[in-house]
Amino acid sequence: MKLLYQHAKEHFNAEEELMEQLGFRNYKRHVREHNAMLEKLAEIDHKIINDEWKQSDVPEFMDKWGRHIINSDMEFNVYLKKQELESV
Ligand SMILES: [Fe+2]
Repeated sequence: MKLLYQHAKEHFNAEEELMEQLGFRNYKRHVREHNAMLEKLAEIDHKIINDEWKQSDVPEFMDKWGRHIINSDMEFNVYLKKQELESV
């Protein structure tokens, strides 16, 4: 779980850096979503360590992450493509 957390954090940081550089208008909201997911990952890790983990924790988390990818990451992807087109 620690490796997943670290990988997610590195991925989120790289994404956030790019957003900030490009002046993405929903940067702060996106960072909040990333932070909420990292907190949830840490919470699941804590539950696993304390043997309090519930099977429903994982699909709930994956659903949240999936919605972030479909909505927020795609929103940034569209913004990124638009920036690329405008710079040509
Ligand atoms: Fe993201």
